[in-house]
Amino acid sequence: NDVDSGKTSWKSPSNIALVKYWGKREHQIPANPSISFTLDVCATTTSVSYTKLGEGASDFSFDFRFGGRPKDEFKPKIRTFFARVEKYLPFLRQYHLLIESSNSFPHSSGIASSASSMSALALCLMDLEKQLDPSIDDGFFIKKASFLARLGSGSACRSVQGPIVEWGDHDEMAHSSNLYGVPFSGEVHSVFKNYQDTVLLVDKGEKQVSSTVGHGLMKDHPFALRRFEQAHHNLGRLKSIFAEGDLDGFMAVVESEALTLHAMMMTSMPYFILMRPNTLEIVNRIWDFRRATGLNVCFTLDAGANVHVLYPEHEKAQIERFIKDELAVFCQNGQYIQDSVGLGAQRL
Ligand code: PMV
Repeated sequence: NDVDSGKTSWKSPSNIALVKYWGKREHQIPANPSISFTLDVCATTTSVSYTKLGEGASDFSFDFRFGGRPKDEFKPKIRTFFARVEKYLPFLRQYHLLIESSNSFPHSSGIASSASSMSALALCLMDLEKQLDPSIDDGFFIKKASFLARLGSGSACRSVQGPIVEWGDHDEMAHSSNLYGVPFSGEVHSVFKNYQDTVLLVDKGEKQVSSTVGHGLMKDHPFALRRFEQAHHNLGRLKSIFAEGDLDGFMAVVESEALTLHAMMMTSMPYFILMRPNTLEIVNRIWDFRRATGLNVCFTLDAGANVHVLYPEHEKAQIERFIKDELAVFCQNGQYIQDSVGLGAQRL
């Protein structure tokens, strides 16, 4: 098939890990399996306009615009991504690509956008591949999009689908793969349906340590092997927790995973701390509130200072009021984002 030009657009959500991916091997292969909730509101919309070049170019030919403006600072990251995926998308140098992206969440809010943006871009590139080879079926399309997204940013492979996605080889989950994310296939109790995630924006500053560096520090980490075993164990526990609707078990695994992620950062060499004083204020207030009310609210953390507050939909009213009245003061400019578990990326 010959395709001269066209345009494709995808909206891809972010995701929040429940069992964390921290540490990787060559080619973006995770050192341990992970599982996440796909989000709904926090998302990146990307469109790719492609035009066939006269001859294959010697370098990748593309422009990048973010929020309507050229954003050349992002181009090296995209070029690195193209270099990694070219083997799997051999037509890449034959097209000029105009990539236009925007995020639903405030710019530089400290919300990692690499998962949603790499997932959206990978899906757009798969659309171009499908134009060239219409025999590609939907199952292959989605798997390969996740495979490509992983090469952009590991956790991005969990953003293509929803609502719960696992990634990484694991004994109890035979279909799970190191190469791409797959929807969790186990039973999920109704209490976990439409789970809520309020993202508290504690610190909007640039991260002092990138996740690439953080993953790298797991290589010689004194606790790495025990940590990787623990992730396997926690994934196994979550499987029965989801089936049984065990909220206490869920909160224990999820909070322990968040604190372990940060404990790995604090015990690597060099060591670093991404939590801020307000992160700990919020954690303590969540614990006090949970003890006082018996409501099922817990937290998790990404590689940053922001706090994700997780709770079941049926407790939404009381917990939203608590967040507004007691936690918002610890956020930068009182900002937080009301999100919930979503179904994955959508073609626009
Ligand atoms: O996808 P990366 O390389 O930015 O790594 C992200 C790692 C964490 O967000 C900290 C955990 C996870 O599993 O998403």
